[in-house]
Amino acid sequence: MSINFTLLLLLLSTMEASLLRLKVAVLLLFLIHCVQAQQVLLNSTVERSALLDLRSSLGLRSRDWPLKAEPCKFWKGVQCENGHVIGINISGFKRTRIGRLNPRFSVDSLANLTQLRSFNASGFSLPGSIPDWFGFRFPALQVLDLRSCSVSGSIPGSLGNLSSVNLVYLSGNSLAGRLPATLGQLKELSVLDLSRNLLTGSIPNISSLGKLTRLDLSSNYLSEQIPISLGSLSGIQFLDLSDNSLTGFIPDELRNLDKLVELDLSKNLLSGSLPTKLRALMSLEKLFVDRNGLVGHLSGDMFSGLDQLQVVDLSGNKFDGALPVALLSMHSLQLLDLADNNFTGVFPSLSSDGNSSNGVFNFSNNMLYGNLNFSLVKFSSIDLSSNYFQGSAASFSRRNVTLDRNCFQDVANQRSPGDCRLFYTKRGLSFDDFGVPGLTQPPLSKQAKSSKRWIFILVGLLGGLVFIVILVTLLVLVLRRCDQGTANQRGTANVGPVPEGDSPLPPKDPNIVSGVGDSFTYEQLLRASGSFSAANLIKHGHSGDLFKGTLEGGTTVVVKKVSLHSFKKESYIMELDLFSKVLHARLVPLLGQCLEHETDKLLVYKYMVCGDLASSLYRITGLEDDSLKSLDWITRLKIAIGAAEGLSYLHHECNPPLVHRDVQASSILLDDKFEVRLGSLSEVRAQEGDSHQNVITRLLRKQ
Ligand SMILES: *[C@@H]1O[C@H](CO)[C@@H](O)[C@H](O)[C@H]1NC(C)=O
Ligand SMILES: *[C@@H]1O[C@H](CO)[C@@H](O)[C@H](O)[C@H]1NC(C)=O
Ligand SMILES: *[C@@H]1O[C@H](CO)[C@@H](O)[C@H](O)[C@H]1NC(C)=O
Ligand SMILES: *[C@@H]1O[C@H](CO)[C@@H](O)[C@H](O)[C@H]1NC(C)=O
Ligand SMILES: *[C@@H]1O[C@H](CO)[C@@H](O)[C@H](O)[C@H]1NC(C)=O
Ligand SMILES: *[C@@H]1O[C@H](CO)[C@@H](O)[C@H](O)[C@H]1NC(C)=O
Ligand SMILES: *[C@@H]1O[C@H](CO)[C@@H](O)[C@H](O)[C@H]1NC(C)=O
Ligand SMILES: *[C@@H]1O[C@H](CO)[C@@H](O)[C@H](O)[C@H]1NC(C)=O
Ligand SMILES: *[C@@H]1O[C@H](CO)[C@@H](O)[C@H](O)[C@H]1NC(C)=O
Ligand SMILES: *[C@@H]1O[C@H](CO)[C@@H](O)[C@H](O)[C@H]1NC(C)=O
Ligand SMILES: *[C@@H]1O[C@H](CO)[C@@H](O)[C@H](O)[C@H]1NC(C)=O
Repeated sequence: MSINFTLLLLLLSTMEASLLRLKVAVLLLFLIHCVQAQQVLLNSTVERSALLDLRSSLGLRSRDWPLKAEPCKFWKGVQCENGHVIGINISGFKRTRIGRLNPRFSVDSLANLTQLRSFNASGFSLPGSIPDWFGFRFPALQVLDLRSCSVSGSIPGSLGNLSSVNLVYLSGNSLAGRLPATLGQLKELSVLDLSRNLLTGSIPNISSLGKLTRLDLSSNYLSEQIPISLGSLSGIQFLDLSDNSLTGFIPDELRNLDKLVELDLSKNLLSGSLPTKLRALMSLEKLFVDRNGLVGHLSGDMFSGLDQLQVVDLSGNKFDGALPVALLSMHSLQLLDLADNNFTGVFPSLSSDGNSSNGVFNFSNNMLYGNLNFSLVKFSSIDLSSNYFQGSAASFSRRNVTLDRNCFQDVANQRSPGDCRLFYTKRGLSFDDFGVPGLTQPPLSKQAKSSKRWIFILVGLLGGLVFIVILVTLLVLVLRRCDQGTANQRGTANVGPVPEGDSPLPPKDPNIVSGVGDSFTYEQLLRASGSFSAANLIKHGHSGDLFKGTLEGGTTVVVKKVSLHSFKKESYIMELDLFSKVLHARLVPLLGQCLEHETDKLLVYKYMVCGDLASSLYRITGLEDDSLKSLDWITRLKIAIGAAEGLSYLHHECNPPLVHRDVQASSILLDDKFEVRLGSLSEVRAQEGDSHQNVITRLLRKQ
């Protein structure tokens, strides 16, 4: 044929250029077609009938595998060579209606396709278990892809006989039981993906899989230690053992995996430290060991060599000690998550390196402290929340910098002064006390002698003050005891011990109270509540519309939308102000707020599973007794006591006393255990004069 071909070419070379190209193309096409047709015909009757059997047992449609047509040529996904079927790809196929009725792992007829090299059924439902003979009948099988096929049962040990298999994907099924040790015989294997199954037991010795490049055992129930033998998989680039129940240490032997690009050991029960020897993993780009029980310091040297690292997640462990500068200043880093650890010390000064990346950094929930004296501008996002940083931070405030729950002077939503002071004094550090210059400090540094005198004077003064306060309090208590008989006395008695004189007026600037709970973005809440769809509307309250919503994490919440077109601004500010001062188990928990929208201010509350008292009492169900049963008398009593506790807290424990002003069945919310959480708090006000109080006391007295 090749001689003919050159002759033809010679002949044609004398002709016009354009015509020539066209004719050569046509000829080539013809030749290729002939060669293909020769290969394609299925001349083994055994295999032909096996394919027909398979067609009917799987319930495949004529559109994909037309009955009368030549399988090798016209059946989709059937690949032949030398008259034999070598590949079957039914991935993405749909079954006939009859086939759908009883889908099973009925591929028995495959057993006669002994030359099969590739079987891909990914996404095609094959409920049932992988038959034992699978391992014996396909000596040439290279590719087995049964991802998301609803396969169950255990992985047959016979798969160890598939001596030429190269790619095995069994992820996203319900495979259970232990991993067969025979997997260690698959010398040609380069990809083994068993993720998202129900596998248990330990990881067997698979050290002889020298060609493995990708091992994914994530999201199973594998237990015991990470086998040292994994250290022999010298060609491996991707190793994912995350989301299992692996225990013990991270073996030092993993340092031999010098081709490793991604190592994921997160969400296990690993303990011990992060082995410094892992610094030999020169190719590593992504390292995840988050959510384990790892401890110890991170040494700077460990990271200095790993200059390919892009993603490092060490969050949710018990690492302590200082932040390694080497880690922070790696120039290719895009994500560094050190949240939820026990790191401490001052934030290392990065400016001198000048080379740290502009990635996303999370240092939340550690014990870092000190001033921030470097620029955060270069980070595209940095979370410093729940640490003990101090000083002025207003200049750092911008969209992607989270500074909540620290000891900053000029930022909302910080820790309490007591917390901060305790932290700093316990460690013998100097604390700036939120920028309120300790009255004593400046003189101290100037005149040591006179300062000592000052201290004595101050101690004397303070001691005197404390004594007076104690005296007054005692007096008031005694007076109260004596005068409990007269109704008017309460109000006057209360006036006495309020030296702090909290102003009951709401703050004018909503930003002052914006630190209550979490701040959500408007889009977040829009998504959570389905764009405030009517389907999610719980009711039109008198201080805003209430919508049910689901946050990204799956928490169900109630979002109150206070549209300033229809409601007074005062109402939500009053309410936020209330929550910023008052915390009690009997009040509905406020989770957060979103004040960024011009006219729609949003408050987010915990969702109360049992609704409110009104709906529980008058529940409209099919049967009248049904609703009665749901609120038995013990529950009713519990609700009554709960409501009383809530009101009593507002009236008697708050200073100044608060009045709810909107007590009705629909303001009494009930959580999943029918515990009362008072709602409708937008009407709560400080008691004016003592009129309300008097009315209540008088009413009580009459009974
Ligand atoms: C099937 O075809 C191949 C080549 O196409 C040939 O080598 C083989 O002998 C044929 N077998 C039968 C049984 O016809
Ligand atoms: C397998 O078949 C599906 C659907 O016919 C097709 O989309 C896919 O590309 C095929 N895969 C391979 C590797 O041939
Ligand atoms: C199997 O087919 C799917 C899509 O049809 C494809 O994405 C996948 O890569 C195939 N599997 C293998 C191992 O080639
Ligand atoms: C395989 O082919 C042989 C010969 O045609 C037949 O007897 C046997 O039943 C077939 N096996 C299966 C599982 O279809
Ligand atoms: C399959 O492998 C087992 C060992 O795992 C061996 O005993 C058996 O002989 C092998 N069977 C075949 C058909 O190769
Ligand atoms: C794992 O198996 C290899 C041989 O396949 C053997 O040399 C090695 O000692 C085994 N490792 C362990 C820890 O059992
Ligand atoms: C964190 O470190 C402190 C001491 O710095 C220690 O008291 C505390 O127990 C540690 N917490 C954890 C969870 O290890
Ligand atoms: C800074 O980064 C560049 C590459 O972006 C690198 O070549 C250089 O060595 C780094 N300098 C330092 C001090 O790390
Ligand atoms: C930082 O980590 C904490 C704890 O895992 C998490 O709650 C917070 O959302 C993270 N911050 C950012 C900006 O992703
Ligand atoms: C930043 O402050 C720390 C102490 O809080 C200090 O050790 C460091 O030298 C300061 N860095 C710069 C650049 O001022
Ligand atoms: C904020 O951080 C996100 C990633 O967390 C990033 O996509 C975005 O560009 C950052 N925005 C700014 C203004 O840096």
